[in-house]
Amino acid sequence: MPQVVEIALFRALQVGLTNTHRHSGSPNVQVTFHRLPNQATLEIKDFGHVIPRPVMDRFHRTGAGSGLGLAGMRKRIKELGGDFTIASTDAGTILFASVPLDDRREQNEEAQGNTAEKTSTADSIFS
Ligand SMILES: Nc1ncnc2c1ncn2[C@@H]1O[C@H](COP(=O)(O)OP(=O)(O)O)[C@@H](O)[C@H]1O
Ligand SMILES: [Mg+2]
Repeated sequence: MPQVVEIALFRALQVGLTNTHRHSGSPNVQVTFHRLPNQATLEIKDFGHVIPRPVMDRFHRTGAGSGLGLAGMRKRIKELGGDFTIASTDAGTILFASVPLDDRREQNEEAQGNTAEKTSTADSIFS
C-alpha cells in the first residue's frame, strides 16, 4: 500500500479514536480495517452521543467541523481520491473512510519521481 495511504488512514484512526474518547462518552469503540485488491477501508464506530447538529451541518456544507480533526481527515482522504462519511445518531457515530488502491497509478507516480508514493520494501515483496 502506498505510504501516503497508510499515513492518511493512520491519522484518520488517531482522530477517530481521540474524538470517541473526548466527545462520545462511549465505553467501546469498534475499528474495522479492510485491505481489498482495489481499495482500503477503515470504519470507526462508537456507541455514544450524537454529533451535534450544527457540527454536522457545517461539515456537510463546507467539510469543516468545529475543530480541525474531521475537516483535516476529510481533506486528506479526498486528496487521495477517497471518500469520507460520517453517520451519527443517538445510538452512536460511524466514521467511514475508503481510499482507492490502483497499482498502475502507483507505478506511474513512482516513475514520475513522486517519492511520497513509494511503497516499503515489505509491500513490494508481498504485493
Ligand atoms: N465520536 C464523536 N461523538 C460525539 N461527538 C463527536 C464525535 N466526534 C466528533 N464529535 C463532535 O464534533 C466536533 C468536531 O470534531 P473535530 O473536528 O475532531 O474537532 P475537535 O475534536 O477539535 O472539537 C467535536 O467538537 C464534537 O462536538
Ligand atoms: Mg477531534
